[in-house]
Amino acid sequence: MYRVSVIGTGFVGLCTAVCFADRGYKVLASTKYKEKASLVNQGIIPFHEPNLSKVLKKAVRSGHLRAVLGREEAISHSDISFITVGTPANPDGSIDLRLIRQTAEEMGKALKEKEGKHLVVLKSTVVPGTTEKVVKPILERNSGKKCVEDFLLCSNPEFLREGNAIQDTLHPDFIVIGEHDKKSGDLLEELYRDFHEGGVPPIIRTNPPTAELIKYVNNSFLGTKISFINTMANICEKIAGVDVRNVAEAIGKDHRISPYFLRAGLGWGGSCFPKDIKALVAFSKSLGYEPNMLETAWKVNEAQVEHTVEIVKNKLGVLKEKKIAILGLSFKPDTDDIREARSIKIIKKLLKEGVTVTAYDPQAIPNVRQILGEKIEYATSAVKCLRNTDCCILVTEWDEFKRLKPKHFTENMRHPILIDGRRIYNPKSFSEKLDYVGIGLG
Ligand code: UGA
Repeated sequence: MYRVSVIGTGFVGLCTAVCFADRGYKVLASTKYKEKASLVNQGIIPFHEPNLSKVLKKAVRSGHLRAVLGREEAISHSDISFITVGTPANPDGSIDLRLIRQTAEEMGKALKEKEGKHLVVLKSTVVPGTTEKVVKPILERNSGKKCVEDFLLCSNPEFLREGNAIQDTLHPDFIVIGEHDKKSGDLLEELYRDFHEGGVPPIIRTNPPTAELIKYVNNSFLGTKISFINTMANICEKIAGVDVRNVAEAIGKDHRISPYFLRAGLGWGGSCFPKDIKALVAFSKSLGYEPNMLETAWKVNEAQVEHTVEIVKNKLGVLKEKKIAILGLSFKPDTDDIREARSIKIIKKLLKEGVTVTAYDPQAIPNVRQILGEKIEYATSAVKCLRNTDCCILVTEWDEFKRLKPKHFTENMRHPILIDGRRIYNPKSFSEKLDYVGIGLG
């Protein structure tokens, strides 16, 4: 069994490390921060992700996973290393490769002393060309070794979703291997065949820039698909008796379209779609091509926030001194991640209008408090959040919100107006009892 190391213990790094360890591999998770290593070694994760903490604890207890400081030990005691460090956005949307460069340099130095052919796998999301034009020369320069002759190299983008990370890692739809050369690809394929023994997903082998681009294209397509259905939702809203959910359900039956990522609502957030779509736009422009469709997908997404505030204004008139309840703060359910969350954008717009905002989320309040501080009120339950409010916007479809009944709104709100931003309630029964507005409901 190959020994695996993961360089970077962020979301993707930890999920990768934990899943390999769970499958019986010896895994070293390399971090540069003492506190992080100590937390991982105690089985503690610094964010909310279902099951991750449980599987991590098991992996640490069984001795299959250990966090180590720096790159040296991780490289020397493993055969294959996955680079999973972050690639944050620059102000112009392009990605910042500083951490990738730094990591490649540190890994190159560690490879200098390493016996045997180590395989370096770049998993971080990077623009086409990064594996071969950035990582490879830095590794070669710092190790004094040659790719192919002395070490191996692949690009291998990640497609897991937050909130579903373990499941997605154990059962991905497909695996993309961008091989620098055949030997590198063969070795990575062998690792994955062994990892997924009994249920190997389709493995696509290609060159590194294609693999790197596939990652961006995948996220861009999904983001565009959502912006498409949100555009249709806005048309539906103008036609009495038409519901985008019925439209999406019908077209989703066409296997060429598929029913997934056709949920209309407040749009996409998170650390991936916004960053990756912006990065692909910037990358494409740097090549001299204006990717109009992606820019439109972005604009449609931003406009959903504006659209929601307009709906509130239509309902309440002047917003000054009104009290509005926000149910759900995280960018999607089952996470405490609030990066690019629709909630923050909507709240900021409401605050500008002089609204008093009270919000509730099962996991994300501490993160929101760090950004908005005491500018808004934080409730300790969904029902308490509704009390004495003039309007409620359902922003994130947490399961516990799905259990709310019309009476919870009518009995607690000053004016029971509900904007269902994720379409989780039955329009008929809710419309009978309260002023119900569903995105995409005409
Ligand atoms: C996304 C991709 O789905 C993953 O394949 C990818 O690996 C990941 O980005 C990444 O690049 O790391 P994630 O951002 O975790 O995963 O979450 P998604 O489930 O894709 O949802 C993204 C956003 O789209 C959320 O705000 C969600 O509310 C929204 N969404 C999703 C919709 O508005 N409608 C839908 O039908 C589906």
